[in-house]
Amino acid sequence: MSRIELSGLTKDYGSTRALNSIDLDVADGEFIVFLGPSGCGKSTLLRMIAGLAEPTAGEIRIDGHDVTDLPPRDRRLAMVFQSYALYPHLTVAKNVAFPLRARSVRRAEITGRVERVASSLALTELLARRPAALSGGQRQRVALARAMVQEPGAYLMDEPLSNLDARLRSATRTELVDLHDRIGATFLYVTHDQIEAMSMATRIVLLDSGHVEQVGAPDELYDQPASTFVAAFLGAPPMCLFDAVVASENDRMVVRAPGIHLPIDLPTPAGGYAPHEVTAGIRPERMVLDPRGQIAAEVLTVENVGSDEVLHLRAHTTTLQARVRRPTARAGDHIRLSVAAGDIHLFDRSSGRRLQWKPDTSTTRENTLIRQGAAS
Ligand SMILES: Nc1ncnc2c1ncn2[C@@H]1O[C@H](COP(=O)(O)OP(=O)(O)OP(=O)(O)O)[C@@H](O)[C@H]1O
Ligand SMILES: [Mg+2]
Repeated sequence: MSRIELSGLTKDYGSTRALNSIDLDVADGEFIVFLGPSGCGKSTLLRMIAGLAEPTAGEIRIDGHDVTDLPPRDRRLAMVFQSYALYPHLTVAKNVAFPLRARSVRRAEITGRVERVASSLALTELLARRPAALSGGQRQRVALARAMVQEPGAYLMDEPLSNLDARLRSATRTELVDLHDRIGATFLYVTHDQIEAMSMATRIVLLDSGHVEQVGAPDELYDQPASTFVAAFLGAPPMCLFDAVVASENDRMVVRAPGIHLPIDLPTPAGGYAPHEVTAGIRPERMVLDPRGQIAAEVLTVENVGSDEVLHLRAHTTTLQARVRRPTARAGDHIRLSVAAGDIHLFDRSSGRRLQWKPDTSTTRENTLIRQGAAS
């Protein structure tokens, strides 16, 4: 059981800032996923929490104690690496027992703990083998067993599934979620795979170039992205983003772009509304084929993704994608689409931050009615 608090955590490599002042409060028993593109600082962050890399600035507290300067073994954390890092010359049993031996735990207790963990991860039959005689998934379970046997307060995992094939990855994902539910420990898990993040996390921490872009439950990030970066990172395909103008027409608020003219869920201000340049966003799966839809588009290409197809579209000069049931359309078709007013996201054109409708009481300037949303 561990509560983990990071404050102002910063890491420089020479003149490169890999992480910039990370603040995060992880409650006991959470499953936190650090998600972000390659090089954004995920591994660096995990290694600092584990005690394997020294912060340039900031503080790490575990259960209220400052551990920033403590060695890894005094943090009650266990780390699972992408490469498994098993000892090739040791049997599975000895690999799993290794961290306990290093701590001089009594032999009888080691045997008992190794057997218990092996049984819970279906490794009992494999205890006498060496890593070379195991499949990738089995090696992965051994690495996990070696972490579990330490009964840590928190598990730190850096892309632990990336060496597995798709089927095994999906099965192991389920196992990890079960394990988390069963033991109730805190999990800090690094991945750049959004499916892993969406399906396992209680909260996702989305990182970009060394800073936290958004923290929240998976559906919060998906449904209320704080920025165009978040909107474009999540989803397959990600949210369509395009330059647009918000304007008032006949007492209704609309979003306009070349080939697009959609009513949106915003009240019309009494004093009129001057057009406002924004970046608009629509999730491809929220586009609905509709003969009376307000978007008229030409299908450029059709991508078969199994259950669905992704239509790559051009509406006048605006490019869009729609994810629809297969089969629906062919290249060259002219189709119409509708989008519910609540499915249109608005972002500030220059900062990329989400815009929220907040009636402004301090001024009557119309354009201040759309305000930058809090970076929640
Ligand atoms: N030992 C190091 N020396 C210098 N720069 C480093 C070192 N380790 C990491 N970096 C740099 O710090 C940044 C963050 O690296 P990090 O390994 O944390 O990224 P990551 O998010 O884990 O990426 P990936 O998804 O590719 O594993 C990168 O720009 C990387 O080049
Ligand atoms: Mg990494």
